[in-house]
Amino acid sequence: MTMTPEKLVELAKEAMNHAYVPYSGYRVGAALLCADGTVYQGCNIENAAYSPTVCAERTAFFKAVYDGHRDFSAIAVCGGKDGHITGLFPPCGVCRQVMAEFCGKDFPIYLVHPTGYEKRTLEQLLPLGFSSGEHMTGE
Ligand code: THU
Repeated sequence: MTMTPEKLVELAKEAMNHAYVPYSGYRVGAALLCADGTVYQGCNIENAAYSPTVCAERTAFFKAVYDGHRDFSAIAVCGGKDGHITGLFPPCGVCRQVMAEFCGKDFPIYLVHPTGYEKRTLEQLLPLGFSSGEHMTGE
């Protein structure tokens, strides 16, 4: 099955159902497409101490990396109060940095909104991001 941005968006929406959000009520979902076609879904998982909370994007990345994936093709991200998508839910800075560890500047990020999605690249969301130099190359 060829994965399209539209299908990836649907998988991100489905992932919101898995969110554990007793504190904020914001359900966030992510669907990460690996280079081999595998998709990993992630949700946010909150914590009573707040700071241990993990975002949906990192859940997806860490699931995938644990399983041995290192090459990624795209990610779709969505979120909203009680799972209602009312606008874009762009990745936080920490998640952008995690993406930069494994993905190049052209890595596509599909930001879901109520009637579709907007595509951005990692370079657009994390300009001049920190890197060891091994992963984000280019001028
Ligand atoms: N959240 C994510 O899952 N991804 C982001 O990139 C930003 C924030 C979650 C964390 C918390 O559970 C909720 O959204 C509200 O901040």
